[in-house]
Amino acid sequence: MGKDNHWQQVDRPGEGQAVCFDLKASMRLPDGKAVELQEQGFLLCFQGELRAWRNHCPHAGSPLDWIPGQFFSDDGDALICHTHGARFQPLSGACLSGLCPRGLFPLEFEDQGDVVLVPVSLASYK
Ligand code: FES
Repeated sequence: MGKDNHWQQVDRPGEGQAVCFDLKASMRLPDGKAVELQEQGFLLCFQGELRAWRNHCPHAGSPLDWIPGQFFSDDGDALICHTHGARFQPLSGACLSGLCPRGLFPLEFEDQGDVVLVPVSLASYK
């Protein structure tokens, strides 16, 4: 796959911040038809490290940030789903508390310094 087809570029977030990006996805229906979906991912910086996650809570599937771009808890130690309050560890994506049956879905990224390459689509819908 060509690199230009696979990646998009986002600005590197500052410490304790996150940037969102669009993510194409498709889902196969029981009748075999594919439906195109528009999702989001987000890239964060925490303790000097970057991580990219799908913006999709594993509890009920809503975006974590009902205030767009706000993913961190007030104390800055966790990511919080604003729908029902599940908390996630920013670097591992593990569920720390709340109604999350599993951790966040990781996305690939490529750190290029001031900018970071993130995917344009989910490889498969989960
Ligand atoms: S949808 Fe995230 S905790 Fe319920």
